Amino acid sequence: MNSIDKVNLPNLLYRGKVRDTFPMSDNRLLIVATDRISVFDVVLPSTIPGKGIVLSKISSFWFDLTKDIIPNHLIDLAIDNDELDIDSEILQRGSVVKKAERIDVECVVRGYITGSAWSEYKKIGKVAGFNMPNDLKEGDKFPVPLFTPTTKAEVGHDEPLTMDEVKNMVGNDMAGKLESISIEIYNFAHEFALSKGILIADTKMEFGMIDGNLTLIDELLTPDSSRFWDLNGYSPGKSQPNYDKQFVRDWVDSAGWDHEPPAPELPTEIIKKTQDRYLQAYNKLTGLNI
Ligand SMILES: Nc1ncnc2c1ncn2[C@@H]1O[C@H](COP(=O)(O)OP(=O)(O)OP(=O)(O)O)[C@@H](O)[C@H]1O
Ligand SMILES: [Mg+2]
Repeated sequence: MNSIDKVNLPNLLYRGKVRDTFPMSDNRLLIVATDRISVFDVVLPSTIPGKGIVLSKISSFWFDLTKDIIPNHLIDLAIDNDELDIDSEILQRGSVVKKAERIDVECVVRGYITGSAWSEYKKIGKVAGFNMPNDLKEGDKFPVPLFTPTTKAEVGHDEPLTMDEVKNMVGNDMAGKLESISIEIYNFAHEFALSKGILIADTKMEFGMIDGNLTLIDELLTPDSSRFWDLNGYSPGKSQPNYDKQFVRDWVDSAGWDHEPPAPELPTEIIKKTQDRYLQAYNKLTGLNI
């Protein structure tokens, strides 16, 4: 499988950690998910071949399944768009979307305690200001899913936002909508994925305004934006077998990296295993192969 690190098309509008965005006519954007991978908000020098294909297809799969909960920005995958005359590797990783006025809040929903929420709980017994039972183990399900929004940092790490801060940024009504829709999407996806043997531990989504309507944008319920655990091996009290980039986080930690750039190069074996995980996530969820 080939690897796409950077997309060399004219008029690059924005290069994010993973995606390269280009303007199209009529207020549309071409967003290309490259094979870049970031951990702890730093882009690694290595790429995961085909990862961008998986991300684009999984997002499109979920956008379709959730479109009755809330409209989304996706017009079509680039491979299904006949205006684009570009390299097939880019086509396979591209999405044609409606341009939105982004709401600068990362809408995080957590169904299970892990990652930074687990660290916080061990330290102070609470998660994002919510009181918690005092006997939670790593990987336990929360009594109810938590909405734990963060900032969208231009560089570096996103910072937690309280609900009052979100209300000050976007207004009470909108804050309430972001919370309830995020939780509704999470609950829907969690239930769907369970039936496919995947446990979605947490996820992050973004919203924007398109023609005055609140709209889901960015990527949706991918192994980059979510934790996908293997239901089969799920057992609280340890870190869980997964189909996401936890494997890479664990490897860079074991290599002693301090999470400050530059990040280390990944060994070939770690690249291959990560690629397998992304491909399996797609296959398990959709029943299809790339
Ligand atoms: N429909 C849309 N309209 C406008 N911007 C969008 C839309 N969909 C996604 N985006 C933005 O496009 C970018 C996608 O790139 P990528 O995910 O690689 O960025 P990132 O590194 O996560 O950076 P950021 O912190 O800016 O999100 C994000 O900034 C996202 O907010
Ligand atoms: Mg992003």
